[in-house]
Amino acid sequence: MPALELTDVRKTYRSGDAEIVALDHATLTVGDDEIVALVGPSGSGKTTLLSIAGGLLTPSEGTVVVGGQDISAYSAKQLTTFRRDAVGFVFQAVNLVPFLTARENLMVVNDFGNRRSHKVARERAERLLDELGLSERTDNVPGQLSGGERQRVAIGRALMNEPDLVLIDEPTSALDTKLGEQVMELIVNEVKSRETAAVIVTHDQRMTHYADRSVAIVDGHLTD
Ligand SMILES: Nc1ncnc2c1ncn2[C@@H]1O[C@H](COP(=O)(O)OP(=O)(O)O)[C@@H](O)[C@H]1O
Ligand SMILES: [Mg+2]
Repeated sequence: MPALELTDVRKTYRSGDAEIVALDHATLTVGDDEIVALVGPSGSGKTTLLSIAGGLLTPSEGTVVVGGQDISAYSAKQLTTFRRDAVGFVFQAVNLVPFLTARENLMVVNDFGNRRSHKVARERAERLLDELGLSERTDNVPGQLSGGERQRVAIGRALMNEPDLVLIDEPTSALDTKLGEQVMELIVNEVKSRETAAVIVTHDQRMTHYADRSVAIVDGHLTD
């Protein structure tokens, strides 16, 4: 079963009297252990596509099926549960909770879902942070971490609930080239070792070789 199937998705935004078409006839299938790079210039609809795939936005038209669940007509409440259980997000602006430590930023995911015991969640958070090279930083709050370290905490948080689909928005945009490559390698290793699918948004063509496949997006249209 594919991790993600977008079929003829259209998304429009209202801006005053104007209608902005952010996505038009967007059709995309991501296999259950596939990493797809979505590459396009600023304003081409990348974040909109990720937001729709992750149930943060609903499409104006078309269907969105994630791991076999058709979320196109889900209610807000159903979408909240879906987001918690089925997807992991790494946003463009790394939005860690500023007053929580790295470990707590991972564990808070568990608290929302209330899925594991505190002890099991703590062990999982520490194992993930260790894999991400952050074992010395678990007790630091985001303000005490570098940009690359914060990005890695966000990756750990996205993997905390073992999602089948990870959605990552421009993970390297705030990092220099070398650090960007390290972060991409980490993401790919983490995603591959879990047999999880991922869509990684980037405007940097150099990052596409980390993915199994690249899809280009221009003005809301997808092309292989
Ligand atoms: N909330 C919004 N309201 C109005 N227009 C929006 C909104 N979000 C995005 N857009 C517009 O939709 C288009 C696609 O945006 P976006 O998906 O953020 O592109 P990208 O992530 O590729 O930069 C752009 O023209 C952008 O200005
Ligand atoms: Mg964007």
